[in-house]
Order: sequence, then C-alpha cells, then structure tokens
Amino acid sequence: MPITFHIKTYGCQMNERDSEALACLLEMHGYQECAEEAESDILIFNTCSVRDQAERKVVGKVGLMKKLKRVKPDLVIGVIGCMAQRMGEQLLEELPHLDFVAGTDQLQNIPAMVDKCLKEHSRQCAIEMGPGVFRELDGHRPGRLISEISVMRGCDQFCTYCIVPYCRGREKSRSIQAIVDEAKMLADTGTKEILLLGQNITAYGVSEARAQGIYTPEFSAFADLLEALQEVDGIERIRFTSPHVRFMNDRFVEAVATLPKVCKSFHIPVQSGSDRILKLMHRNYTAAEYLDRIAAIRARVPQATFSTDIIVGFCSETQEEFEMTHQIMREVGYDMAYIFRYSQREGTQASKTLLDDIPEEVKHERNQILLQELNDYVKAANAKAVGSTVQVMVEGPSARNPRRWSGRSDLNKMVLFEPAEELHVGDIRDFTITRATENALYGTLDNL
Ligand code: 5AD
Ligand code: SF4
Repeated sequence: MPITFHIKTYGCQMNERDSEALACLLEMHGYQECAEEAESDILIFNTCSVRDQAERKVVGKVGLMKKLKRVKPDLVIGVIGCMAQRMGEQLLEELPHLDFVAGTDQLQNIPAMVDKCLKEHSRQCAIEMGPGVFRELDGHRPGRLISEISVMRGCDQFCTYCIVPYCRGREKSRSIQAIVDEAKMLADTGTKEILLLGQNITAYGVSEARAQGIYTPEFSAFADLLEALQEVDGIERIRFTSPHVRFMNDRFVEAVATLPKVCKSFHIPVQSGSDRILKLMHRNYTAAEYLDRIAAIRARVPQATFSTDIIVGFCSETQEEFEMTHQIMREVGYDMAYIFRYSQREGTQASKTLLDDIPEEVKHERNQILLQELNDYVKAANAKAVGSTVQVMVEGPSARNPRRWSGRSDLNKMVLFEPAEELHVGDIRDFTITRATENALYGTLDNL
C-alpha cells in the first residue's frame, strides 16, 4: 500500500502554486496524493499569516487533528508556509501533536523531513531562508488549461502593515530562461494560459539588477520577461499578479499595452486613496501617481479593466481619508476588489509604531460601504456589456451548473454559455453577450 498525503492550502495563489509543486515532488518520492484528509498518512497544512483571522483558522484546524492522531498514532502532521516561517519552533511547542514545521524556502526538503518523521518519529523544524537556500520547484499537474508560474519570491517593499517580507524573505527572481522553459513545458502538456506570480511582480529582477549596479528608472526586467513569454508557442494568454505602482514605468506600460498575449485586465493594489495613509503604509506613491499609471494604461488600451486590493481602517484613518478611498474606487471603476479590514500583525512596522485605533465596527462599516460601491459598479458595467463581443477561452462545464459551460474573457469576466458540438475545451472564441448579472455574463457563440 502506498503512503498517502493530503495538502490543505490557505491564503494566496502563491501558496496554491507551492502546494501543487510540493504535491508533484512528494509523488516523485513515491507518496500518493489522497483527496480525503481523514484517510491520509501525511497531512500538510500550507498556511497564511497575512491576517489574524487566517492564522486563527489554521490553529483551530490543526488543533482538531489531535483527535485524528489519537486513533492514528502514525499520522504525520506538518505545517508549512508563512505561519511556519513566522512561528517556527513555537508551533511545535504549542501543538504537541505536530510533527514538522517547514518554512517558505524549505519546500524541496519536505520529502526528506517526512521520511524522517515516518521512520524515526522525530519532530522537526526547518525555517532557514536566504540566498542559495531555495530551489524553485517546477513540477505541475499535467493537462491544466490555466497554470501558475512563480517568477519571483519574497518582498523588499516593507509596507508597514504587511507580514509578507518576514514570512517570505527578500526578493529573489528566477531567470527569464528558467521561466520560459517552464512555460514551454506547460504548453507541451496542454496549458494555454499562464498566470505569473510574485508578491511584488513588477520588481522582478530589480534586486539582482541593483546588485549588479545596472538598475535605472527605465529598467523593467518584467517587461523583458513578458516579451520572452510572448514568443512561447501554445501559450495564448498571459496574466500576472501583483504589480506595484512604484515599478510600473513607461517601459512596463508599453509592454503590457502592446504584447497581444498579455490580457488587458490588471490587478493593481491601491490600498488607500489618502496620501497621508499611503505614506503611513509606506506605499511609496501618492493617489495622483497611482491614477497617473491607470491613465497611462488606459491611454494605450482604452478597454483595459482593473481590480485592486484595499485596506480599510488602517491606523488613524479618518472618515475623510476613508472617503478618499471611496472616491478613488469611483474614479477607477474596479471590476473586482479585495477589500480588507486592517488586521495588526505582530512584528510589522505598524505594530511597533502605530496604534490600531479604528474600532472593529467602523472597519466593518467602511468595508460594507466599499463592497456596495463595488457591487453597484460591477452590476452597471456588466449590464453595459450586453450586446458586446468578448473573446472567451472555453474552460468546460461550469462548477455551479454543469449543463452550462463557462470560460473567462480576456478581460477576466466569467462568461456562461450553452455547450455546442463545435466547442472544445481550450478553444478561444468570440461570444456575443446577451444577458448579464452581477456575477457573470451570458453569451452566445458568434458564428464566423
Ligand atoms: N491587514 C489587512 N489586510 C492586509 N493585507 C496585507 N496585510 C494586511 C493586514 N495586516 C492585504 C493587502 C494586500 C493583500 C494581499 O492583503 O491589501 O495587498
Ligand atoms: Fe498569506 Fe502573504 Fe503568505 Fe500568501 S504570501 S500565504 S498572502 S502571508
């Protein structure tokens, strides 16, 4: 009987990607993935630290595994990812039934740690980070229409609210060649769309260029990367997340505007519309500079759509400052926004120097106002799309109603349509939008 494992993933797409690569690595070591948590021999929790709630969820969940371990004493339980990196040994102390803790740069060592847990029943913790420690894993589930590629790790931005630089370390970029090779391998196994991942993706290659003394304000290794990926046969669409305004120079704008495979929907975190708050957050741009970059993209690509991340209730945010965030939302017109209530994270700059003084009710209320704004905008924008033609990549039966098929438009809108004989998964076809709701567009296939 093969030894089985199950990975439960919390947090961002970077974690999803790490879990996929880890699953491939464990399979190469002879372990077999199991969909059922309770039936697995090895249980791995890939965790997130970005907000307090995310961590509490994990502690609750791993705590529950104590019972399972009582009936299955050989069960190996591991915590990996951001929380593992942040807490290290402390997790082993707090959770006596936990077997191993592996930090964000330790993925390639996990099979050996698991082996040791199984053979010696010893408890282990590995959280070393830094240059030379990490080797990017390039294993992928074969046959995925849409695949993620991690192009860089870490973050050097040190926004005052953010735990990421402490969990994922300094920025490290992979070579263009390694990423292109991974994209080619994916194209050969059926991938048509790639989503490039990096915590601060527009800073791709920046720390390496700085170290070589070749960094200038016109520098954009990210634009070079997009140009190289444009040439990969079989890859039809390129998306990426998340850029930072500070590195969105004209070279970047030119590349995203002109490269045909780069989808014209952009996720650009704004966080706040108030310059004072942006400064306290250490975002390194003003609201006007943010809007200037949106305008620069719109000037080249009028149909471009935008999504964003926003934090409400950051330390000392006044009602007027919150209104400025509301205003920037109205000005840009986001197709999608992740709106977060500020959550103080121990160890961040803000937790040391600023007071988390906005009451929870006020954070909640501000959050609701922005969610309403988003809904109203999306509803109106979707209604306006009726009658237009959009290009959709056919993904197959929709998750909610399998009799209908779905796919995403190049502008990242979910489009639902009737299956048809001439439609195959992976086809990129034009659809005319006939109906719209807040969540989706309904289309009919355009016949040539
Ligand atoms: N509190 C609330 N939201 C946060 N984010 C990051 N740190 C915090 C925090 N301490 C949000 C930011 C970021 C997204 C990934 O998570 O908006 O862009
Ligand atoms: Fe969460 Fe950030 Fe870690 Fe992703 S990188 S899992 S968002 S803390």
